[in-house]
Amino acid sequence: RKLRWLWRAPLLASLAGIAYVGWGVYEERNPGPQVEPDPSKKTLVVLGTGWGSVSLLKKLDTEHYNVIVISPRNYFLFTPLLPSCTTGLIEHRSIMEPIRTILRHKKANVKFYEAEASSVDPERKVVRVLDTSEIRGDVIETEIPYDMLVVGVGAENATFGIPGVREHTCFLKEIGDAQRIRKKIMDCVETAAFKGQSQEEIDRLLHMVVVGGGPTGVEFAGELQDFFEEDIKKLIPDIADRFRVTLIEALPNVLPSFSKQLIEYTESTFKEEKIDIMTKTMVKKVTDKTVEAEISKPDGSREKITLPYGLLVWATGNAVRPVVKDLMDRIPAQKDSRRGLAVNEYLVVQGTRDIWAVGDCAVAGYAPTAQVASQEGNFLAGLFNNMARTEVLEQRVRELSGSLNLQPGNAAEISKEIEEHERQLRRIKDIKPFHYSHQGSLAYIGSEKAVADVSWFNGNLASGGSLTFLFWRSAYLSMCFSTRNRLLVINDWVKSKLFGRDVSRE
Ligand code: FAD
Ligand code: NAI
Repeated sequence: RKLRWLWRAPLLASLAGIAYVGWGVYEERNPGPQVEPDPSKKTLVVLGTGWGSVSLLKKLDTEHYNVIVISPRNYFLFTPLLPSCTTGLIEHRSIMEPIRTILRHKKANVKFYEAEASSVDPERKVVRVLDTSEIRGDVIETEIPYDMLVVGVGAENATFGIPGVREHTCFLKEIGDAQRIRKKIMDCVETAAFKGQSQEEIDRLLHMVVVGGGPTGVEFAGELQDFFEEDIKKLIPDIADRFRVTLIEALPNVLPSFSKQLIEYTESTFKEEKIDIMTKTMVKKVTDKTVEAEISKPDGSREKITLPYGLLVWATGNAVRPVVKDLMDRIPAQKDSRRGLAVNEYLVVQGTRDIWAVGDCAVAGYAPTAQVASQEGNFLAGLFNNMARTEVLEQRVRELSGSLNLQPGNAAEISKEIEEHERQLRRIKDIKPFHYSHQGSLAYIGSEKAVADVSWFNGNLASGGSLTFLFWRSAYLSMCFSTRNRLLVINDWVKSKLFGRDVSRE
């Protein structure tokens, strides 16, 4: 009898899984009716539709505010799987979630404007916005007043003013970047395979250079080598021995934020995968076909090198966006801040009253990661929900106190109610400051291997390899925004495994 149940367990688990997915799909397709915003409530303007802003919007009780979202991107992007889009392992739409779908599931209607915030005036409490899309109407620029403002505009790519970077390299931050890289990889490969191409030119075209050995550069290099080994090599064997990936890093090692053991594991895995790592090498200049760098030698001397390349991906971290820089310049208390808007422990922008900042544009003492941004967004949602509830309770206490004289017969009952509300108020007002809880770091390093530095009870667990790769895949799958995203990503993984990546160049 026991055995019969054991046999049935997987069946029941599968049915429960199907029911869960079915419910997710039904919910997504059938959002309930929305209430219209109340004009007497405060206007909360949220800039950006990235990790910070969307986590805030997900948890925010929108019926308490008039919420307006402004972003040039009308979707949320699940960045951890972006490197997989550069080779077509995952199709880009699988990791995008339309902001309209997200907002349609809120209890109260939220306004969305697809536009860029060009400046914020903290004195007049207005945001200047600009429609930067291809199709423009009569009005392309306007001002949006706010009572409360959340800045979650992320960061842009750091170039450190190095000549040629903006003109000749590809970044890896947005969907458009991944599409550009995917196209360019195949362009280099097809051009290298062109009849009569010189050997020297074939070597240049098939030399893929990645600058920056942080997690973005490492993950991209791993995905690129996989693409070559699993697909390109099989489809175009003539160029099989010419394809090369080089990763250039200025520091003595790659993945500086990971533990020493995982850095060594990554470097030895790259060696097996035939990815060249050049550490202590600082890129100084980029031209349309070459990259110039300086190697620091152990004896203190420096050597200048010039490498010809076909594709160059620039992944050297973050820089402050112009709208954030402009806002910082307007606030005297921000004059010493360099990497973004300095915030206090409640994420209030220092030197302002009604402006908060989340994610990569905020300096709160944490690394610029999705994990930090989403926890900050969650925290702000809780804070704003509490602030709204406080206002409702305080209003009710004022009303009850006023009615005490008018209804002396009910005085005891009213006093009890006031007491209860005041107790709730004390509890709500006792809001703890933001505290970041680090769950760990994960990175894909190619050939179905990943590295993980995970918090484990009160310690740290470092692991790397194929099992960690399965953990990496399941962790990111569970973190995908919606059931739709999860299904699409699984579909892409299965499709690529069975039929290979799609190498057609759109
Ligand atoms: P973003 O997510 O970048 O969102 C910014 C939003 O603001 C966007 O919607 C943008 O369109 C909008 N915006 C820009 N300018 C304006 C403007 N002027 N006005 C209004 N809106 C504007 N972190 C991890 O923790 N784990 C990972 O595995 C991981 N993988 C990554 C992989 C890649 C390839 C990259 C590039 C990053 C990765 N990160 C990862 C880092 C993570 O993506 C960022 O830390 C996170 O996106 C920051 O969230 P954010 O909300 O601050 O900014
Ligand atoms: P990063 O700042 O982590 O790394 C950039 C690297 O480029 C640095 O190691 C730096 O030394 C190097 N560099 C800078 N200038 C250089 C030059 N001229 N020549 C050679 N090397 C140079 O940037 P990255 O990887 O884009 O990550 C940004 C943020 O996003 C980080 O906080 C990171 O943790 C997070 N992220 C996390 C991921 C994950 O957890 N899997 C994946 C991708 C990003």
